[in-house]
Amino acid sequence: MRGHDTRSKGAGVHFHTIIEPFRIKSVESIAFTTREEREARLREAGFNVFLLHANDVLIDLLTDSGTGAMSSQQWAAIMQADESYAGSRSFYRFRDVVADLTGFTHIIPTHQGRAAERILFHTVLQPGQIVPNNNHFDTTRANIEVEDAEARDLVIPEGRVPSLVHPFKGNVDLDALERLLAEHGDRVPLVMVTVTNNSGGGQPVSLENLRGVRALCDRFRKPLFLDACRFAENAWFIKTREVGQADRTPKAIAQEMFSLADGCTMSAKKDGLANIGGFLAMNNNAWAEAARNLLILTEGFPTYGGLAGYDLEAIARGLEEVVEEPYLHYRIRSTAYLGEKLVAAGVPIIQPPGGHAIYIDARALLPQIPPLEYPGIALVNALYLEAGVRGVEIGTVMFGRHPDGTETPAAMDLVRLAIPRRVYTQSHIDYVAETVAQVGRDRERLRGYRITSAPAALRHFTARFEQVS
Ligand code: F0G
Repeated sequence: MRGHDTRSKGAGVHFHTIIEPFRIKSVESIAFTTREEREARLREAGFNVFLLHANDVLIDLLTDSGTGAMSSQQWAAIMQADESYAGSRSFYRFRDVVADLTGFTHIIPTHQGRAAERILFHTVLQPGQIVPNNNHFDTTRANIEVEDAEARDLVIPEGRVPSLVHPFKGNVDLDALERLLAEHGDRVPLVMVTVTNNSGGGQPVSLENLRGVRALCDRFRKPLFLDACRFAENAWFIKTREVGQADRTPKAIAQEMFSLADGCTMSAKKDGLANIGGFLAMNNNAWAEAARNLLILTEGFPTYGGLAGYDLEAIARGLEEVVEEPYLHYRIRSTAYLGEKLVAAGVPIIQPPGGHAIYIDARALLPQIPPLEYPGIALVNALYLEAGVRGVEIGTVMFGRHPDGTETPAAMDLVRLAIPRRVYTQSHIDYVAETVAQVGRDRERLRGYRITSAPAALRHFTARFEQVS
């Protein structure tokens, strides 16, 4: 990949080509299928790629969560893990790495991010309360709503316009947050900020904005929690886009991000570079005690929290590797590289490219398919049929149905191509770009879908479809 923004340091000399900062020691074959086979598999799956067997997928961009490749150092640490039930050496190694990074007093392991969310919100929320965020991720929102509280999105207006370029489209609208805290502060038990902002296109939040949120939290005496799943990618964007940050290490920037908060929820399946795991961390003693009691009830003893000792080792090492500059440089550049190729092919995407994924604007690409015939599903299915590439619809199927059974178009019909960490090489990404460009050329031939069966909630996972004739 050639980088336009910053140059890579190859052997001490400046190079334009940014290479994968690793060599490959162990490989996993991927399965090629014919178009006829893919047509049969997709039909059996009710035209829903969630229901495919992963073996029938060539390049899997469904999610960047838990799908990354671990390093030889992580595998080595796994072999050395301590599986003691209580007080395992691996827990203390994990705790020390998380404490060094975040500075929080209480570090509570959980089996993944949503478990940390459930424990936090069940501990602190009362019915009728409001939790503001830039954009809540689905599981965060669901874990707030299940407590009969409200999840409110306060991202800046620029963050809602796909084609608009802004360096920190994940920023919180500080005026809107101030108004909320002034008018309904008694109903807000904590403020959250998601870094990077997944639901808004993997967009970063600036340090300046985080400092602004902190100042409001100080003024209204509210704790601030980060949803920190992609904290390292966010730190890299700060380093490369925010004035005065270029000479700092990503780790120092990440430490400052955490120092502005009072706690965090974390899915280690993203920037923990692990296949499973997460944590809840905070400074508040009373909340931490209540959270640990709930943890024991549903996750496990506080020194393992639903994880094996070897998972704790993998996360500890992963958190050290994820802030390394060569890794982040390659990571963010390789996502932008895919984005640039799609733009060059005339495919509309959320601008600028996010950290972990490219989001294609399927509604803009397929204007002949009305939102209620699911342009996102049409595009996802076409990418699979064309070349065995799996993405995910983030649009009307995911968000369009309401609790009263009615259906309206979602705000956007997007297709997310999420890039697993350290898994695919540049030629895999070139292949994906070629696939999208080919489908883009054939776009007038694509048709919409209708749902033939769907569950009452979270229908996108298991709904079945047929093509509109
Ligand atoms: N917060 C954000 C911003 C996320 O993106 C996710 C997961 C979670 C919380 C929940 O973490 O999966 O470990 O329970 N996002 C994945 C995705 C599933 O595909 O974007 P988890």
